[in-house]
Amino acid sequence: MTISSIPTKGRTLDYAASVYDVLEPLCLFSKQAEYDDTLIRAIAPQPSDAILDLGCGTGLLCHKISQLLDPDKGGYIVGIDAAGRMIAAAREKRGAPHCRFEAMAAENLHFPDASFDAVISSLFYHHVPLDLKQQSLQEAFRVLKPGGRLMIADMHKPTTFFGLLISHASRWVLMQPQIGENIRGVLPGLIEAAGFMPPKIVAEYFGYIAVFSTTKPA
Ligand SMILES: C[S@@+](CC[C@H](N)C(=O)[O-])C[C@H]1O[C@@H](n2cnc3c(N)ncnc32)[C@H](O)[C@@H]1O
Repeated sequence: MTISSIPTKGRTLDYAASVYDVLEPLCLFSKQAEYDDTLIRAIAPQPSDAILDLGCGTGLLCHKISQLLDPDKGGYIVGIDAAGRMIAAAREKRGAPHCRFEAMAAENLHFPDASFDAVISSLFYHHVPLDLKQQSLQEAFRVLKPGGRLMIADMHKPTTFFGLLISHASRWVLMQPQIGENIRGVLPGLIEAAGFMPPKIVAEYFGYIAVFSTTKPA
């Protein structure tokens, strides 16, 4: 199945789609299951929830969350990614009527206002420059219902020497200024500027990934 990628200034991972499921556990130091469980606890899916995953990759987190949703009560999750090959892989491996995947840019969501109970995102925000970080957070705010939950897990200010080493090496070896923005700690300010309640850090991983949780005011 060929799915066109969506033009974006974000760093898309079409080239990695076929090997992403093998590479990601290595990047998460074999702690993927624990990491995913932490994110799922942070978003606390309810059976009837409509949930959106920004930058879903091959859809592993969507699949795990979909198992907690009840389609008979209207529960579903949709993962979006600008990389067409990621979406093709996600649909092939994990697609289901209540676990859908769409090629879309997080900064330009094709969903109506107030259509989701929760928006989640894992390791997406360090792939996009500051203006797209802002736009996608504004879009997340728009598509969330009042009182809706936002959970973002991503690179943030390093808290350990190991975290400092890994995050600065990623920034300079990959030559990604957008990683530099995360390391400087821009995410909480941007989340609040988009209209959300001040985010709380509910978990930290490896000294450089923070899990932020907040809500859209009711
Ligand atoms: C490191 S992967 C994270 C995938 C998945 N969320 C996970 O935790 O494994 C980042 C994803 O963001 C996607 N991406 C980059 N820019 C994007 C954009 N503007 N809109 C949507 N997705 C984008 C990439 O194609 C890639 O699949």
